[in-house]
Amino acid sequence: MRTTVGIIGAGPAGLLLARLLHNAGIASVVLESRDRAYVEQRQRAGILEQGTVDVLREAGVGARMDREGLPHDGIELRFDRRRHRVDFPALTGGKQVMVYAQTEVCKDLIAAQLADGGPLLFEAEALAVEGAETDTPRVRFRHQGREDVLECDYVVGCDGFWGVARKAVPQDLSRTYERTYPFGWLGILADVAPSHDELVYARSDRGFALLSMRSPTVTRAYLQVPDGTNADDWSDEEIWDELDRRLEVDDPAWRLARGPITQKSVTPMRSYVHEPMRHGRLFLAGDAAHIVPPTGAKGLNLAVGDVVTFARALVAYTRKGDADLLDAYSATCLRRVWQAERFSYAMTTMLHRAPDATDFDDRIQRATLDRVTTSTAAETDLAEAYTGFPL
Ligand code: FAD
Ligand code: DHB
Repeated sequence: MRTTVGIIGAGPAGLLLARLLHNAGIASVVLESRDRAYVEQRQRAGILEQGTVDVLREAGVGARMDREGLPHDGIELRFDRRRHRVDFPALTGGKQVMVYAQTEVCKDLIAAQLADGGPLLFEAEALAVEGAETDTPRVRFRHQGREDVLECDYVVGCDGFWGVARKAVPQDLSRTYERTYPFGWLGILADVAPSHDELVYARSDRGFALLSMRSPTVTRAYLQVPDGTNADDWSDEEIWDELDRRLEVDDPAWRLARGPITQKSVTPMRSYVHEPMRHGRLFLAGDAAHIVPPTGAKGLNLAVGDVVTFARALVAYTRKGDADLLDAYSATCLRRVWQAERFSYAMTTMLHRAPDATDFDDRIQRATLDRVTTSTAAETDLAEAYTGFPL
């Protein structure tokens, strides 16, 4: 099999890239190791930055998002039994975010690709990328029990943190930066209307809690839990009780609505960057190149930024023979990536309680929250980063 761009992985990065290339008249083939149902059901991110929303609309896959997504103008920070609203449009010159689940973004992109795009092969596992330094890179893969080779002009590794693409960059040319956190998130989905009309990020002495949503009738929520926690260690009642305690606030009008929990899982927390994001004709995009802890919802949005950068660069090269943007791909992406790493790290450390936290750490957290909620400059910094940097 032969194509212009071989894309490994049908997560948001790979699927959106295939759509952007299709719209620009550039052929691609997507290889995805899992089946379609798995990709469409995998619960992950839920917040789209303004720039991501704009990209999906321009790519022609924004119709259902615009009908069913929930535009949000702010978030609430909760600490010391107090609540503070961060008003995004007022602080950023009109920016919003959109609550629209990653599962739905993927469903929309898959439907569009299968309707009129290039091949999208499910249960097609990439085994290795070969010849990245040559003009004819290849992806060896296994599909329907057979091994095959996809010959390409370019390969884009959109295969997530555990994929194979990154391994094709020689070790002596790679540099990685990593931080793990001694806690994770227990995430739930529940059939109950969200208790607040915006997301609530809560810092408490018992640890972090986040109240989010997926629709007007479905609540999404997260609890900071110790490393190694098994989701089944927590009963539904324990989860609601703990959310109640961590979200406590001096406001008689506040009440956490409970309902049947339909899904629960634990996500570990990690910061990770692989540099560079390009080796020869192999480009890395999304979680294949970098991971952020989820606080601040940057992972999916970063993946979108990478593939938009790649698609623009390839279009400039194909149409005008101008290779500058392709040559700048890694540096362009990494600048944004490190801003998101900085923000996600800052949000995580401001709101979570480390198991070895000292009284000093505790006071610094409170001082940071005090600063963010009393200085317009500090609050604007948070709002700008949360709603996203320009693509
Ligand atoms: P992925 O979505 O990981 O997609 C990679 C795809 O490649 C997958 O479909 C995988 O099956 C496929 N693949 C892997 N190896 C191969 C191979 N060898 N051959 C072929 N295909 C392969 N972000 C947030 O902002 N908020 C959250 O709440 C949040 N929760 C998360 C929970 C979990 C458990 C994880 C892992 C991530 C979470 N994230 C969250 C991060 C966000 O979901 C990711 O940043 C986003 O999915 C990145 O998209 P991607 O396309 O780069 O990678
Ligand atoms: C969600 C996830 C996040 O990481 C976040 O910061 C906000 C919301 C969510 O899944 O709804």
